[in-house]
Amino acid sequence: MVTSQYDHIWDCCCDHGLLGYALLSRQAAANIHFVDIVPELMAEVENKLRRFCSNSNTSSSSRWQTHCLDVAKLPLDQYAGKHLVIIAGVGGDLMIKFIEAIYQNHSNLAVDFLLCPVHHQYPLRTKLIELDFSLKNEVLVQENRRFYEILLVSTSSEADRKVSPVGNQIWQSLTSKNSEQTSKKQAGIADNYLKKTLNHYQRMQQGSSPGKANNVQHIIDAYRALSPNI
Ligand SMILES: C[S@@+](CC[C@H](N)C(=O)[O-])C[C@H]1O[C@@H](n2cnc3c(N)ncnc32)[C@H](O)[C@@H]1O
Repeated sequence: MVTSQYDHIWDCCCDHGLLGYALLSRQAAANIHFVDIVPELMAEVENKLRRFCSNSNTSSSSRWQTHCLDVAKLPLDQYAGKHLVIIAGVGGDLMIKFIEAIYQNHSNLAVDFLLCPVHHQYPLRTKLIELDFSLKNEVLVQENRRFYEILLVSTSSEADRKVSPVGNQIWQSLTSKNSEQTSKKQAGIADNYLKKTLNHYQRMQQGSSPGKANNVQHIIDAYRALSPNI
């Protein structure tokens, strides 16, 4: 989902920097930025980059930079060009805070975000809708028995590319008439993910205190409406 149209790609919450290294080795953009808030991690990433991916290597068209800072404070305005901000592997609730801060601090810039939240997908999507982001792409992936929603969105609003609170393209295999093996496999993944998500919200509803019992009913209804078999 990372196309070649960006001048700056930010691997935020990069941890050991695996995603950033992969982008750097395929020269995905002129500048790859590694960002994490933990100084020891950033020192280790910086060391590895110096040893294995020297910026003075003239055969590579990509340069790297490390930034030990809070993702909420990304200095996008200090770098001219088109930005892709990737945030993966943190909770959707934390992601909401990062996106709100970046959006507020750089309201003059059109920024793309590639997001892979751990849980809290519904509140994250609701926030993207509230901020009027547009959807460029979304996929559902299963790896090591875990499910991941991956969303490519943009701060520039587009009437015909709305973000859905429960997702849209990620469920298409459920209603597809395509009988190919890959499509059947994807339908199985979507079906399992939908069941898991509904179970989660039903447990939440049962566990909530009286009077608050229905506060996720609208979410359950929205997920139920996705498949006639649920
Ligand atoms: C589980 S790792 C995610 C690694 C990788 N992005 C992935 O998807 O596998 C979460 C990382 O987020 C970093 N982190 C947490 N809060 C942060 C913040 N406010 N700003 C920058 N990094 C943060 C942590 O230090 C940690 O390295």
